[in-house]
Amino acid sequence: MFIFKTIHNNKEYNDELIELLNSQWPRSFYSRQISIDKSNENLPYYLMMIMTATADHQSINELVGCASISKINSIENALLIENVLIKKQYRGKGYGRLIMNKIENISKEKGFKVGYLSTNDQKDFYKTLGYIDCEPISTSSFVQTTNNNNNNNNNNNNNNNNNNNNNNNNNNDDHQDKTSNLLKIFGGGSLKKRETIEPFWLKKEFF
Ligand SMILES: CC(C)(COP(=O)(O)OP(=O)(O)OC[C@H]1O[C@@H](n2cnc3c(N)ncnc32)[C@H](O)[C@@H]1OP(=O)(O)O)[C@@H](O)C(=O)NCCC(=O)NCCS
Repeated sequence: MFIFKTIHNNKEYNDELIELLNSQWPRSFYSRQISIDKSNENLPYYLMMIMTATADHQSINELVGCASISKINSIENALLIENVLIKKQYRGKGYGRLIMNKIENISKEKGFKVGYLSTNDQKDFYKTLGYIDCEPISTSSFVQTTNNNNNNNNNNNNNNNNNNNNNNNNNNDDHQDKTSNLLKIFGGGSLKKRETIEPFWLKKEFF
């Protein structure tokens, strides 16, 4: 059986959530904490999927997946879905679909009408769930536009094609902004052109 919980109301899962996220997208504990601490009922919002079982009269709760949603200020009633993750050993069992359904239902309940996300390599998973291609959008509260591996917003003015907004569904937070600012100040080579991978942007209307 599964239950869904928010991190802001269930802080006892804090370290387990960070460990889960870092197992897929390694980041410092501190930067994860900053991102998770923003979770609140009005968004941004981290949802956890927990498997519950009873063995020897003891209940066992295991965090098996997570996802996050945040508002998109530039588009009315739209939100950004990120950090969609199922623990490795539980993939391919329909759990990814389950947490996406839950996220979509919560989003609808909160009055949102459309969900956006970006991905490098899970486009087909999202397409199976009814997401369709769309233009890149500008982003949100967990996320900012400067810098991760896939970011091309790095002073390369030859990139005015509306695509310089590459938060690919997981790894962006304010800490990265601060980090990249520090890199600029202390010489992290941010003026060099980086190799970039353009993520796919997808969206789904919630009915
Ligand atoms: C992407 C992820 C969340 C999918 O979760 P999952 O539990 O393995 O997926 P499910 O078993 O629920 O799959 C649901 C459907 O999508 C399909 N699917 C899942 N992954 C797929 C893929 N990579 N390509 C094509 N189809 C895929 C399944 O076949 C299934 O289809 P069906 O219901 O018609 O049989 C999981 O693989 C994961 O955590 N990956 C690592 C983190 C990640 O990349 N997250 C996405 C960031 S953009």
